[in-house]
Amino acid sequence: MPDQPRPDCPSTLFSWEFADDPYPAYAWLREHEPVHRTTLPSGVEAWLVTRYADARATLADPRLSKNPIHHSEVAHAKGKVGIPGERGADLMTHLLNIDPPDHTRLRRLVSKAFTPRRVAAFAPRVQELTDRLIDDFQARGEADLIHEFAFPLPIYAICDLLGVPREDQDDFRDWAGMMIRHGGGPRGGVARAVKRIRAYLADLIHRKRESLREGEADDLISGLIRASDHGEHLTENEAAAMAFILLFAGFETTVNLIGNGVYALLRDPAQCDRLRRALNEGDEGLLATGVEELLRYDGPVEIATWRFATEPVVIGGERIAAGEPVLVVLAAADRDPERFDAPDVLDLSRTDNQHLGYGHGIHYCLGAPLARLEAQTAIGTLLRRLPDLRLAVEPEDVRRRGGLIMRGLRELPVTWGPVA
Ligand code: HEM
Repeated sequence: MPDQPRPDCPSTLFSWEFADDPYPAYAWLREHEPVHRTTLPSGVEAWLVTRYADARATLADPRLSKNPIHHSEVAHAKGKVGIPGERGADLMTHLLNIDPPDHTRLRRLVSKAFTPRRVAAFAPRVQELTDRLIDDFQARGEADLIHEFAFPLPIYAICDLLGVPREDQDDFRDWAGMMIRHGGGPRGGVARAVKRIRAYLADLIHRKRESLREGEADDLISGLIRASDHGEHLTENEAAAMAFILLFAGFETTVNLIGNGVYALLRDPAQCDRLRRALNEGDEGLLATGVEELLRYDGPVEIATWRFATEPVVIGGERIAAGEPVLVVLAAADRDPERFDAPDVLDLSRTDNQHLGYGHGIHYCLGAPLARLEAQTAIGTLLRRLPDLRLAVEPEDVRRRGGLIMRGLRELPVTWGPVA
C-alpha cells in the first residue's frame, strides 16, 4: 500500500505556492505515486508521469497521440486542451498537434530549411541583438531582465530567422506579449492575437512566394516554400502553421530559459562566480554545460505538451484508458535521483546530463540548436558586461508566471556595479 498523501502535497498541486517551488511535491509524487491521476485547474482529468524512466518511455510511445481529437472529452474540452475556437484552428495543425505520417513529412520538410548550418550562421546576429538590448539599459545600473532583455531577444531573433521584415517585428512583439499575458487566462486576448498573426503570416507567405520567382532569398519561410516546391507537398495552411509554431514554440520557452537560468545563477553566487571567472579566462566550456544544467535544474517547459492514449496503455504499473490525457512532467523527471546524482544541486559542470528539457522522441525540440545559441549568448554576455550582476529584490519577492506547461518569471529586477 502506498503511503497516504501528505496533506500539503498533491492537494496543493498547481496552486500559487506550488508554482514557487513545485519540486518537493514532485519528489513526493515520484516516490509515492509516480503515475498520478489529477484534476487540472481547468477541470480536465489527466495523468501526471514524474519518473525519468517512465517519462522518457512515454515521450517516445507511439500509442500516445499528439492529436487532441483522441481526447475522450474533446467535445467539451474545446479550449481546455489547447484546441482553439474556430478562428485560427488551421494554425493549430502544427508539429506538436499531429502524428505520423503527417508529422514525419512536415518535420522532414522543416528540417531541410531549419538546418544547424543556418542556425550557426545566425550567431553574429544573435550577439548583435543581445548587445543592442544591453546597451539600452547598461548605463542605468538596473533593469527588469524579463521585459527589457529575455522577452525581446528571442522574438526579434526568430522573426529575423523566419524573414519577417524588421519594420513588422514590433507588431510581433505586441502579439507575442498578448499571447503570454493571456496564456492560461481568458481566451479572448489569445484568439485576437492568433487571428492577427494568421492574417499576417498568410500575406507574408504569399509575398515570399511571389518574390522567390525574382531571386534567391535566404530566410526560413522562403526555405520552407522552396523545400515544398521541390517535390514534397506543403499547403499554404501548413506553411502558416509551421511559421506559427516556430514563432511560438521558440519564444516563451527561450524567454523562460534566460529568465529562470539567470535567476538560478543569481541565487547561487558560488556557481555564478565560477562561471564568470571561466568566461573571463576565455573558457566557454562551462557556459555550454552550464546552460544544459540550467535547463535540467529549472527548465522552461515544466510539463510536455498534451498526449492522448489511443488504446489502453500501462505506464509505471497504472492502466490508462484509451482517450485519457497523459502529461509528462519534465521538471519532475529531470530531478529524479534514480537518474541524476544530487538532483537538487545546481552543478554547472555536470556531465552525463541527458535531461528531458527539450523532450525526447519524434517531437524532440526542433529549435534546440537555436535555443542553445540564444541562451549561451544571452547569459554569457550578461555576465561579461554587467559586473557583479545581482538581484535587486529578495529572491522570494520575484514573482512567477502561472500556467500549466511553461515555467517562468513575471519579472526579474537586477542591478550591477559601475561599468568599468
Ligand atoms: C518541441 C522545449 C526552444 C521549436 C519542443 C518540446 C520541448 C521543447 C520540451 C517537445 C514537447 C513535447 O514533446 O510535448 C524547448 C525549450 C526551448 C525551446 C526548453 C528553449 C529553451 C525552441 C525554439 C524553437 C523551438 C527556439 C524554434 C525556433 C520547437 C518545435 C517543436 C518543439 C517546432 C515541435 C517539434 C515536433 O513536434 O516535431 N521544444 N524548446 N523550440 N520546439 Fe522547442
